[in-house]
Amino acid sequence: MSDPDAPGIDVRPIEEAEFAEWLRALNAGFLREPVVSAEVVEARRPQFVPGRLLGAFDNGRCVATYRSFAQEVTAVGGAAVAADAVSNVTVTATHRRRGVLSRMMGADLAAAKERGDVVSTLIAAEYGIYGRFGFGPATTMTEWVIDVPRAGFGPSRPAVPDDGGRIDLVDPEDVRKLGPDLHDRVRRAQPGAVSRGELWWQVNTGAVPFFSKWTEPFYAVYRSAAGEVEGMVSYECDDKWGDAKQPLNTAEVNWLIAATPGAERALWHYLCSIDWVQTVKSGWRSPDDVLPLLLPDPRAARITTQADWLWVRLLDVVRALEARTYATAGELVLEVVDAAGFAGGRYLLDATSDGASCTSTTRTADLTLEIGELARLWLGDESAQRLVTLGLVREERAGAARVADALLRTSRRPWCPDMF
Ligand SMILES: CC(C)(COP(=O)(O)OP(=O)(O)OC[C@H]1O[C@@H](n2cnc3c(N)ncnc32)[C@H](O)[C@@H]1OP(=O)(O)O)[C@@H](O)C(=O)NCCC(=O)NCCS
Repeated sequence: MSDPDAPGIDVRPIEEAEFAEWLRALNAGFLREPVVSAEVVEARRPQFVPGRLLGAFDNGRCVATYRSFAQEVTAVGGAAVAADAVSNVTVTATHRRRGVLSRMMGADLAAAKERGDVVSTLIAAEYGIYGRFGFGPATTMTEWVIDVPRAGFGPSRPAVPDDGGRIDLVDPEDVRKLGPDLHDRVRRAQPGAVSRGELWWQVNTGAVPFFSKWTEPFYAVYRSAAGEVEGMVSYECDDKWGDAKQPLNTAEVNWLIAATPGAERALWHYLCSIDWVQTVKSGWRSPDDVLPLLLPDPRAARITTQADWLWVRLLDVVRALEARTYATAGELVLEVVDAAGFAGGRYLLDATSDGASCTSTTRTADLTLEIGELARLWLGDESAQRLVTLGLVREERAGAARVADALLRTSRRPWCPDMF
């Protein structure tokens, strides 16, 4: 049982002087070597934002960590919504199940609500942790492994894009220069995508010693015929050979972003055309990524992972529902249950092709659902009908789930390319 007032455990924002100790506790919580070099502490110091890093202390030792930071998440239709992104959540094994996470989460969500954040976001290590706090899984992630010889591009075809564009390998400095603008363009058009701060680019190009180990990846950039940077990929290759002297290398994608269909097609074709590479691992993609169908033989791509990815906690139902667009016009009355008291109430959603209004109402509800179930519907990934079947949404008016699906679902699924 959780003990919300576990005696002797002090849950509070950390001081900057406690940052190194907090990082040690973070490593211990994630079962990583519980030491942090002075170099790593300095590299991570920009993450210290007063009030946003929480810790729990027992006899002066840090036994839990929690960090939140300002983020934007893209709603359906492209609006950027202010999010309280949650990360680095750990409670040391000696102090688990005594309500420490509940205390840190309660404090952070209250602060986020007070600040006016519309949602809170996170990537969950385990499925069972965050539902109780009002989060719901809002996007799904799929990983493919591609059997390159079977994919059908053939060894003699050049990997030159057929649309006049070109692909070049570039250096980390080029990625830091060209990446942020491209990513901004991509994430603003991708429901479920999140913003990347400057530190993200430094960490993911090895500019700062954030991790104890770093392997320099390859970076390739796609430029259109007009010279515009429209796609970028970071990937690593291993060095494996068979006994009969045949190359058996794997190229593993760290991340791949593309602003145009041409860039997307060209980069995957390139990755599946590198001599020696027999296997391509896709990295975290959208479940309806076009990747398998880009291959002459889509069966060469096999799904290896499919799981919940971005979890969302709605803190302001009105602003969240008004921020997104709707496929069709219609009305829906939602009875939203939120035990934590942040966002519950009965809301009338009035959607038109020009935007939507969401207001408190006394009208009879069409659907009754917990706040976490609304998060599943918000980015358009889940079907209200399915949630009714699961007993997670109650239909108060026959046919209301069908109306909800017509309004809320999208032709392409939301996707969050990032882990944070
Ligand atoms: C997950 C973790 C942070 C939970 O911390 P905690 O302080 O033990 O959590 P609490 O005591 O506040 O638990 C609150 C409730 O959540 C439940 N819960 C906690 N962790 C859970 C888990 N991994 N799976 C299922 N339920 C969990 C508790 O049983 C408790 O339920 P109750 O209120 O019905 O008694 C901690 O176990 C941990 O650090 N795990 C390893 C690292 C990790 O996974 N971090 C999350 C990264 S996203």
